[in-house]
Amino acid sequence: MIERVIVEDISELAQAACARVVACIDASVHARGRCMIALSGGSTPRALYRELARHPALPWPRVHLCFGDERAVAPDDPRSNARMVHETLGKEPFVPPENVHRMRGELPPVEAARAYEAELRRLFPDEHFPRFDLVLLGLGQDGHTASLFPGSPALNEQSAWVVSHWVASQREERLTLTFPVLNSARVCVFLVAGTEKAWAVREVLEGQAAVEEVPARGVDPAQGTLTFMLDRASAAWLR
Ligand code: 6PG
Repeated sequence: MIERVIVEDISELAQAACARVVACIDASVHARGRCMIALSGGSTPRALYRELARHPALPWPRVHLCFGDERAVAPDDPRSNARMVHETLGKEPFVPPENVHRMRGELPPVEAARAYEAELRRLFPDEHFPRFDLVLLGLGQDGHTASLFPGSPALNEQSAWVVSHWVASQREERLTLTFPVLNSARVCVFLVAGTEKAWAVREVLEGQAAVEEVPARGVDPAQGTLTFMLDRASAAWLR
């Protein structure tokens, strides 16, 4: 069952999502002594990350911030998701820098993917796939999520945790967590805003397309919850 939360606008989306993240952090730290989060890239989550930066009292030393995907660029590149997170959340003194595990987009992509998988294996020892406490995802206009794009060979990866690939539509190399990792999450939350996403939202939630065409339809945590947090504009085409 996919939960839908529809709010008025991006500001309410950030507030509602922040409440979910805070609840997840508290529950995970209480239950397991840490909270492992895979952050979404793109622009939608900026408002959420800025809202989280207003919560210094959270147990940040027990929170590990990983990334769902990254562009194969240096961390100071304007396209970098690591840069976006640093600008919104990572610069806060209460977020230990050693707890921010960025994908090293400055490395050759295959090497960067291998290095990130090795880092995740250190964070999730002895796990067949890393079970994140929370995976935050965005949704592209074409139905992609993380850097899992329509027609990408990465969609079929069933063993690697992290892969790199050329994304023709973006004209750049991308790094991404794979479906087995996303679908091992305890809690998976999509954050989607804007009229331009209405088609993709309807296709994901009410369509019948194959994952090959609408990759976000491939997100279905086997032992976890799946929530779409939408603003009214992106939810406008839902029945
Ligand atoms: C990225 C993402 C990507 C993003 C969607 C939505 O690196 O860009 O992780 O999957 O979430 O493209 O992007 P916006 O939030 O900018 O619309």
